[in-house]
Amino acid sequence: MARRRVAILISGRGSNMTALIEAAKAKDYPAEIVLVISNIAGAGGLAKASDAGIEIATVESKPFGKDREAFERKLHDVLVAHNIELVCLAGFLRLLTPWFVKQWEGRMLNIHPALLPSYRGLHTHERALADGVKIHGATVHFVVPEMDSGPIVMQGAVAVHDDDTPDTLALRVLGVEHRIYPDALRLVASGGTRLENGSCKTGNAGSDTALIVPAIT
Ligand code: GRF
Repeated sequence: MARRRVAILISGRGSNMTALIEAAKAKDYPAEIVLVISNIAGAGGLAKASDAGIEIATVESKPFGKDREAFERKLHDVLVAHNIELVCLAGFLRLLTPWFVKQWEGRMLNIHPALLPSYRGLHTHERALADGVKIHGATVHFVVPEMDSGPIVMQGAVAVHDDDTPDTLALRVLGVEHRIYPDALRLVASGGTRLENGSCKTGNAGSDTALIVPAIT
C-alpha cells in the first residue's frame, strides 16, 4: 500500500516533528513526511527538518493579522499543492477556524500535553501539579473546531512525583509524546482507526497494565 503523504505544521522547536520524521524512516511505516510548514519564520524545527532532508515551507501568519481564514487559505493551498493526505499539528500555535478544520476533517491530528479532556488549553503541567493529580500524560486526537477536543486516538500516562516542577513533569510527558505521536500516526495512516459517533475506535484492546501512583511496595 502506498504510504500516506503527511505534512507537519509547527511553530517552534519541533521535537514531536523529529519523532515523527524518525519513525517514518522505518520501511514498514505507513506514512511519509513530505513537508514541514511553520507559521513562524526561523522556527527551530525548520532547520531540523531540512537537515533530515524534508522539504520545508514558511507560511507566516503574522502578516494576516486577525484574518485567520486568509492565512489558512494560503496554508491550505500549499498543502493541496503537495498532495498532502494527512496533517499533523506538532506545537502549531494557531487557533484554527471551522473552515480549515472542515477541509481536513478526519485527516488532521494534534498532540496535547495532558490526558484530555482534562487540562485543555495552556499551562497543563502547572495546572496538573496545582491539582495534585497523581497521573498525567499526553493525548493524540483528531482535530475538531473546538480547541483540544475531538476523537482521541491514543493516550500515554506518566506518574506525577511529589517533587515535580512544571519543567520536570513536562520532560517526562514529552518522552511519552514522542512515543505516542508516531504510534498514533501509524495507526491512522494504516487505516487502523474508525470514527464512530464522535469517538475513535482502534479495534485494539491495548494494554492491560495498570499504572498505579504511588506504588506501594
Ligand atoms: C508539545 O508539548 C505538544 O504537546 C504541544 O506543544 C509542544 C510542542 O513541542 N502541542 P515540540 O515543538 O514538539 O517540541
